Amino acid sequence: MPRKILVTSALPYANGPLHFGHIIEAVQTDVWVRYQRMRGHDCLYVCAEDAHGTPIMIKAKAEGTTPEALIARVAAEHRADYEGFLIGHDHFHSTHTPETQYFTNLMYERLRDAGYMTRRSVRQAYDEQAAMFLPDRFVRGTCPRCKTADQYGDSCENCGATYTPADLVDPVSTVSGTRPVWRDSEHIFFALGRFEPMLREWLASGSLQPAVQAKLAEWFEAGLQDWDISRDAPYFGFEVPDAPGKYFYVWFDAPIGYLGSFKALAAKRGLDVDAYLKPDSTAEMYHFIGKDISYFHTLFWPAVLHGAGFRRPTAVFVHGFLTVNGAKMSKSRGSFITARRYLQRLPPEPLRYYFAAKLGPGVDDIDLSLEDFTARVNSDIVGKLVNIASRCAGFIERGGGRLAAQLPDPALYAEFSGAAERIGAAFEGRDYSGAIRDIMLLADKANQYVDQHKPWTLAKDPAKADEVRAVATQGINMFRALITYLAPVLPAMAAAAGRFLGAPVGRWDDVQSPLLGTALERYEPLAVRLDPKVVATLIEAPAEAPPAKPTGAAQATKVTKVAEAAGAAAPKAAAAGASPAAPERIRIDDFTKLDLRVAKVLAAAAVEGSDKLLQLTLDLGSERRNVFSGIRSAYRPEDLVGRFVVMIANLEPRKMRFGVSEGMVLCASARDDAGGIFLLSADAGVQPGMKVS
Ligand code: 2FM
Ligand code: ZN
Repeated sequence: MPRKILVTSALPYANGPLHFGHIIEAVQTDVWVRYQRMRGHDCLYVCAEDAHGTPIMIKAKAEGTTPEALIARVAAEHRADYEGFLIGHDHFHSTHTPETQYFTNLMYERLRDAGYMTRRSVRQAYDEQAAMFLPDRFVRGTCPRCKTADQYGDSCENCGATYTPADLVDPVSTVSGTRPVWRDSEHIFFALGRFEPMLREWLASGSLQPAVQAKLAEWFEAGLQDWDISRDAPYFGFEVPDAPGKYFYVWFDAPIGYLGSFKALAAKRGLDVDAYLKPDSTAEMYHFIGKDISYFHTLFWPAVLHGAGFRRPTAVFVHGFLTVNGAKMSKSRGSFITARRYLQRLPPEPLRYYFAAKLGPGVDDIDLSLEDFTARVNSDIVGKLVNIASRCAGFIERGGGRLAAQLPDPALYAEFSGAAERIGAAFEGRDYSGAIRDIMLLADKANQYVDQHKPWTLAKDPAKADEVRAVATQGINMFRALITYLAPVLPAMAAAAGRFLGAPVGRWDDVQSPLLGTALERYEPLAVRLDPKVVATLIEAPAEAPPAKPTGAAQATKVTKVAEAAGAAAPKAAAAGASPAAPERIRIDDFTKLDLRVAKVLAAAAVEGSDKLLQLTLDLGSERRNVFSGIRSAYRPEDLVGRFVVMIANLEPRKMRFGVSEGMVLCASARDDAGGIFLLSADAGVQPGMKVS
């Protein structure tokens, strides 16, 4: 029986580009959806722009445009990026639409009428100049605990304290730069706690992964708080029907946007919306999300749905965060890779393959290592998979273009066709990495078969033409099974393979009958190797160091960090003709952010391929660090061993062409760079690891 399935991935905010974090989730969802369709299920995939909220309103204003125009522009970019990655949404909508507003109002009214909405006054930061209430993130100030300046209104990045904007020392509105005042306003609250028994029962139905279940148990333990679902004007969103000047909070209507998108799709295709959304629906509904938004999807969303008389999600599938080269994606390290940046350089399928090969059913973080990406794609797709087809195709072509009428080794083929259920179960359970491991082991077997039978040797003897054709037919059929199993991941390659095979690759069960006696089309290369040099350009080169502010004292010696990256190092003298400006002042808090330490040079060596860098191994007392330092012009490596230097120990590690640099050593240099570079050292008696202040 075909299943009826509705699938979503999280809605991207309509104020910024899609990045790899969005793409890995879209790929995870798309692979699952394509797999379901190959099994003959009726699987619909919808998504939309998450269009509401203060950041979008403020960004539009800053750009001198309307939120609607901003959303339209960003939506067009998002659509192009999703298409570029072959994400097969059935419909891509927006939350700022009549369909989403319809469900938002309906749900609100039903929840209100059932007594789940209450109103009470809330004290909040208010920007008198901008005439608006401020979300916590739009207030910054000094952390009340550690006194670090310029922290968000809800938490401190330095010490991890959480608080409210009212606790900040010297709060400032980031909208106008003025000091906010505190004002009361009536808000609408959703009584989440009343759904606890229902949520516990839903949880017990096995709708969530074990790690997410554990998280929920913690949240139940902590107690479910009422949820503030309203915001005051000015706000970009839907006005609450019975509360003029109040708007639904963006997170209230965001998941409702899933249903809005589905409603729009249903109108296009003549589908019965109710059949999917009524409480006893037999259709399945799944949401793919990242773990940061679990609370919204595993507590609020099922409670809102249930309370408003709709079905609950069949399951919520949570994935971990994506890291790049072992670290959080970061703009300053250039590893915040956008979909566009990738698509301008490389085809989509290698990345789909790599993400799939890394994705398991759990919530563990997933690392994209660019070197591993290149190696894996070149080895698996080009070296193993495509190799089978490209080695065999020529023999069929030269032998008349038709496959043999029988397989020479049906038992071996049965191993391939017999893997369909096992590999299918792995896709169904979102264990894509397991599925791909299995597929690649089969690819190894197929290559071994061709190696053993050496059709290129047989082909030298015209009497063995049938044998050659038989071996190649076996190879082509094994390739066909593998590309069928990989079709959810590599849809374009599967389509191209289908053209070559003269039989579309589209149904999971097709591999049960091998292709025999049929004609093949001309073989065109199905994939090309990734060039590591191109892959390396995915990481954005660090921006040029901004020109130093002139001090007026052209020859003043300044302590500067000799940067890891050659060329981005010492500040240059002010450009001729630049007008003198006052030296930039920092606060003591800025200085105390630096963790300056004494380190001892254990080893030093020139870096091959760089005329500026030395590679230093530094003893920091409790650990060793690898640092690339642009001091080669001033020091011979052997003279440095045993010296004490001063380093910045809490700098984020930075990936360079030569390796990862884990800090910076401090040097002095003349402003005009002419007088050389001088390492800062410490008086006798210092020990590695001592703090410098
Ligand atoms: O975290 C985010 O990026 C949100 N825009 C996700 C919304 S998902 C759903 F609830 F709409
Ligand atoms: Zn703090």
